[in-house]
Amino acid sequence: MKLILLGAPGAGKGTQAERLCKTLEIPTISTGNILRAAIKNGTPTGLKAKSFMDAGKLVPDEVIIGIITERLAEEDCRNGYILDGVPRTIAQAEAMEQAGIVFDAVVSIEIADEAIMERMSGRRVCESCGASYHLVAVPPKQEGVCDSCGGRLVQRKDDAPETVKNRLEVYHKETEPLKAFYKERGLLKPVENQKGVEDTTQAILRALGR
Ligand code: AP5
Repeated sequence: MKLILLGAPGAGKGTQAERLCKTLEIPTISTGNILRAAIKNGTPTGLKAKSFMDAGKLVPDEVIIGIITERLAEEDCRNGYILDGVPRTIAQAEAMEQAGIVFDAVVSIEIADEAIMERMSGRRVCESCGASYHLVAVPPKQEGVCDSCGGRLVQRKDDAPETVKNRLEVYHKETEPLKAFYKERGLLKPVENQKGVEDTTQAILRALGR
């Protein structure tokens, strides 16, 4: 199964990717996580990406295309993968097509902008391993502490309300046209966000015929 998860910032792509990869037994590849790790490690890619990410803008296509083609060539991607947050522009999607990268399905998680604005204020992430929580919907067992690694939970810099607004604008302008792109190819599967995380996972699995 080669799957793309599309959706607005905060739609739940990362949350669902982590759950689906266990059920489908394939790796999840998140360009957001790869870029945040690069920033943390001070690599040249991280230095290039930081100002774009902090402002809620997209990192240039050539940086992303380089990252993703390299990652998909790795051994663990042989039997499939879940792409979380990539492609995010038509240029990225076309570059993948030209590189012979094909997909079985593109799931688009549908959620209203107002729900995103409300949701993002409650997101907390582990500063050590990147695991994601929500103060109400997905709380950690102990307040402020990551269940997986015991790391400190913090708010992402780009989750500030003004930056979330920018990210939503960028999503509608640059990323949403991908829905028509993949619909034309018969791959698009829109899935309404459900109130709970588990219900959304079940809706995605149904859309995938699982
Ligand atoms: P990235 O990290 O990919 O951010 P994003 O796409 O904006 O998405 P998020 O990670 O914010 O949200 P998500 O949809 O994964 O939601 P989550 O599961 O966390 O990218 C960050 C930046 O990197 C970009 O702005 C850009 O600069 C750059 N970048 C990355 N990829 C790029 C690319 N391809 N091209 C160019 N630039 C790129 O859920 C959100 C919250 O909601 C959580 O707290 C969660 O617990 C909660 N939640 C989830 N589902 C539910 C539910 N059903 N009910 C209630 N709560 C829920």
